[in-house]
Amino acid sequence: MSRPIVVVGSINLDLVAGTKRIPVAGETVIGSSFQTFFGGKGANQAVAAARLGASVALIGKLGTDAFGRELQTGLKQAGVDTSAIDVVDESSGVALITTDERGDNSITVVPGANALLFPADLEKRMELLRSAAILLAQLETPLQTVEYLGNIASKEGIPFVLDPAPARPLPDSLLRNVTWLTPNETETCFLLGHSGQQLSEESFESAAHTLLQRGCRNVILKLGERGCYVALSDGTRKLIPAFKVRAVDTTAAGDAFNGALAVALTAGNKPLEAARWASAVAAVSVTRRGAQPSMPTGAEVSHFLQEITSSQ
Ligand code: ATP
Ligand code: RIB
Repeated sequence: MSRPIVVVGSINLDLVAGTKRIPVAGETVIGSSFQTFFGGKGANQAVAAARLGASVALIGKLGTDAFGRELQTGLKQAGVDTSAIDVVDESSGVALITTDERGDNSITVVPGANALLFPADLEKRMELLRSAAILLAQLETPLQTVEYLGNIASKEGIPFVLDPAPARPLPDSLLRNVTWLTPNETETCFLLGHSGQQLSEESFESAAHTLLQRGCRNVILKLGERGCYVALSDGTRKLIPAFKVRAVDTTAAGDAFNGALAVALTAGNKPLEAARWASAVAAVSVTRRGAQPSMPTGAEVSHFLQEITSSQ
């Protein structure tokens, strides 16, 4: 059997309100819809990779509530190996999400059980971690656990993809263990200490360069509808434009990208090809509502790429 993609990360139930526009502080707006979806950055990345046909295991924590049971069933149905998910006496993670008419969103995460994923939980799963073709993490679980995973990845020589989301300060000792750092625009600005939340096209190179200088091997800046900027340790620099689609909900576009990137890299694709394919997977995901339900299958991505090629 092929070596699995192993994701260490959060599992949330997403409570999603649709509105004309996202309210500002102190404002109340009337929503037009309410739906619940399976989400959480770790679970989304695991589901993205599993839907694309990869063998995937998720290490995480759920609560004893009904949400936890539903979330676990959803992961199993998506083809994710859930045997390394522990159930603890806490509430399951939830995310309160508001989406607007343009597909943009704002998110409040209440971690619950996700906050109880500690290095000792990784110690229990060393056999699984050592068997991984690639390791994926995000920042919705305690930083000490992500740092511990980085050390394992480095010691075992396993590529490590870190999605630094949501943004928080990161020590260089962690970044030195990262093979692929994949911040979005806001996270890039945060990591660079910029006051704004946007990057001009002229600043992509210097932003990536600064992150590479901090020790990670390769950087991919995820830039929403502008695409992604790939900066490799061999000096390669490339802006890959996003595919043009009608976005209805961009929630988890970054997770679709990371899950797909892991699948493409472990299948032996070159980094630029892997990033282009991950962009296609993410583009399909933004045309659909919800986090995990928006993740496409490999056949759907092939069909999307064929349509794009034949319309050019
Ligand atoms: P999220 O936090 O919602 O998971 P993110 O902010 O981490 O997402 P983005 O930069 O928004 O990540 O998106 C990741 C990738 O998805 C982009 O690099 C791009 O390839 C693709 N993408 C995002 N938005 C669009 C869009 N409107 N149209 C086409 N592709 C998109
Ligand atoms: O990246 C999108 C995810 O962020 C959502 O599914 C939500 O659960 C939050 O964790």
